[in-house]
Amino acid sequence: MHRIIFTLFIIVILYGVYNNYKKAKLHENISKKSCSICQKNTQKIYDLKKELSEIESTAYVKKYIINVINHGSHDLGFKGKIMEGGYASSDDAEKIACYVLTLSGKFCKNGYEKDAPMFFTSICGGCHGDDGKGLGGTYPDLTRKKLLGIEQKENFLRTKIKFLEHENLKHIKEKNGY
Ligand code: HEC
Repeated sequence: MHRIIFTLFIIVILYGVYNNYKKAKLHENISKKSCSICQKNTQKIYDLKKELSEIESTAYVKKYIINVINHGSHDLGFKGKIMEGGYASSDDAEKIACYVLTLSGKFCKNGYEKDAPMFFTSICGGCHGDDGKGLGGTYPDLTRKKLLGIEQKENFLRTKIKFLEHENLKHIKEKNGY
């Protein structure tokens, strides 16, 4: 009789130990998983902050303008008006971008080519105005200190960083059980 009780007792103990082991293993897996998410998020936050720190640089804005000339602009909300890409060839896009930069006080390393202002007035001036000011708000003002697309991108990056930081905080809190 004693032996049976003793054996049952041992079985209960072993079952308890096994269950605890299973729980610990599960917890370890969850922790590992959430940590790898945290690490990925941290890397993303680093990349986004780096992009944010470069957003007002001449190189970044130049790249943006070239991209608009080549591929157009659709998201700035100009009363149903969009800009198609390809008003200038991609070779001329770089040349024109160096001139457009000067309208907001930025300069390419070698300034701009002699014929760039003529390209701008003949291809872009019809909408943006020969002075680049956008014909009284009808089209984007290219003399703004910060172009609208750059402002939009800046807001997007800030929101994304905040979201990822919030996600990380949530994971850390969960991991620590509060
Ligand atoms: C037919 C009219 C038209 C022509 C021609 C045109 N654009 Fe535009 N452009 C627009 C409109 C409209 C937008 C805004 C579209 C939107 O809502 O995203 C725009 C947007 C832009 C932007 C973004 C402005 C910002 O604040 O972010 C740049 C830069 C730009 N254009 C440069 C040029 C250049 C350089 C040329 C000549 C190669 C050119 N555009 C030719 C109508 C034009």
